[in-house]
Amino acid sequence: MTDFLQAAKALLGDAHVLTTDLAAYATDWRGKFTGLPLAVLRPADTAQVTATVRLCAAHGVPIVPQGGNTGMCGGATPDGSGAQVVLSLGRLNRVRSIDPLNNTLTVEAGCVLQTIQALAAEHDRLFPLSLGSEGSCQIGGNIATNAGGVQVLRYGNTRDLVLGLEVVLADGQVLNLLRALRKDNTGYDLKHLFIGSEGTLGLITAAVLKLFPAPHAQAVAFAAFQTPQQALQLLGLMRGHLGDRFTAFELISQASVAMVRQYFPATPTLFEAKHPWHVLMQASDAAGQDALDAAFQAALEAALERGIIDDVVVATSEAQAHELWAVRENISEAQQHDGSNIKHDIAVPVSSVSSFIDEVLPMLHTAYEGVRPIVYGHLGDGNLHFNVSRPPGWTIPGWQLETDRVNKVVLDVVARYQGSFSAEHGLGQLKNHEMLLYKAPLEVDVMRRVKQALDPQNLMNPGKLLP
Ligand code: FAD
Ligand code: MLT
Ligand code: ZN
Repeated sequence: MTDFLQAAKALLGDAHVLTTDLAAYATDWRGKFTGLPLAVLRPADTAQVTATVRLCAAHGVPIVPQGGNTGMCGGATPDGSGAQVVLSLGRLNRVRSIDPLNNTLTVEAGCVLQTIQALAAEHDRLFPLSLGSEGSCQIGGNIATNAGGVQVLRYGNTRDLVLGLEVVLADGQVLNLLRALRKDNTGYDLKHLFIGSEGTLGLITAAVLKLFPAPHAQAVAFAAFQTPQQALQLLGLMRGHLGDRFTAFELISQASVAMVRQYFPATPTLFEAKHPWHVLMQASDAAGQDALDAAFQAALEAALERGIIDDVVVATSEAQAHELWAVRENISEAQQHDGSNIKHDIAVPVSSVSSFIDEVLPMLHTAYEGVRPIVYGHLGDGNLHFNVSRPPGWTIPGWQLETDRVNKVVLDVVARYQGSFSAEHGLGQLKNHEMLLYKAPLEVDVMRRVKQALDPQNLMNPGKLLP
């Protein structure tokens, strides 16, 4: 491997072939997976990515692409063999062009999501992808995982926000799909193969993103109620009043709020009484604030009158809106402080969310006395983070040993609802084995054929996504 590393240094410069102090690249955000990279390679542009991929192919060195390393499934973490390189995309962070009339932005893969959002705003446009990790995740990682986030209800997943891609294939060729077209039916739409492929088919080096009119008005509220069924009624009511202006509908259980308050003591108490369930809602509009406020207020009054919600806090300033959102966004980090949980990212049809919750919670409580389900997520998309924290008295390693059993309780019910065992985080090395349990063999077989066609040497993120 000395030859390989020397050639990599000649290609990228010594400073961009790291072989020491690799801890930050070797462990995932949750601290669940730790690998042993041969080296971390940091190419500067598409040409260097191409040359690096060719070098790896010539030496049979497997490549683990890494963006912001905020993924939830260990997809960007190498294995423990010491043979895989991490290819970090962070230096590919240029904005190639912006076309406000076409409402498109062309950026390189290493651009941080928050930077892209800010750039769109400077041009009075919105790039609507919005995640708790937006300060560190990169657009290449977002595309590779087909990230969801909190505005899918209105704008769709990352897949819906990408018009074109540039991809370096496993043999080093550059597949240029960087078209900025809203209509193009000229054969298979190849970009969709790479969106959500978690680095297993090629390296995304640039993308054309869709922009939208910037919202100039915004309304945010935190509501409290008794049952998941009421959440569905509220969703219907809010959408009825607000239509497309309704952009976010996030479910938050009382246990999730309590965990945030435990680890973020500055979190304000929103209601005097305790309520088992809450939602955080947002509406936004490109037109005036007064009209939006009136429609938002009318919808909430109707919900209170009909007894759908018990109570509601409406943000009266941008600062308060941030404060309400912080309760939601801090759940992931609070769980990190609490010690690792058994994590789920499931989807069922929106109409089934309430019966799904009502079915699974008692099963978990019967299986494990004192178990602490931390249920929250993007209810408007039927996507819940149905995480299961250990009951008092259990050690973290002891609880981790229960993963298969807990997964079976939750995911068998998901399967009965014809749902998904990974709605937005992807599979990485955390969920790939579930493929064999919950996907049709033919579907897995077709995926293997695609992988074989595009990466015959199995050098692109091997061991991830496909079991
Ligand atoms: P990484 O973690 O670096 O990589 C993720 C996967 O993509 C890996 O398989 C990697 O090999 C591959 N990859 C990365 N870059 C490339 C590239 N250029 N070409 C090919 N493959 C590549 N996710 C959601 O969907 N919705 C949420 O609401 C959400 N909220 C989050 C909140 C917090 C606090 C945190 C920590 C994470 C959250 N995530 C969420 C998960 C995560 O942020 C997303 O999956 C994000 O899209 C990952 O981007 P990244 O740049 O960090 O990718
Ligand atoms: C979220 O919605 O907060 C994220 O997907 C991260 C998580 O599941 O904790
Ligand atoms: Zn999420």
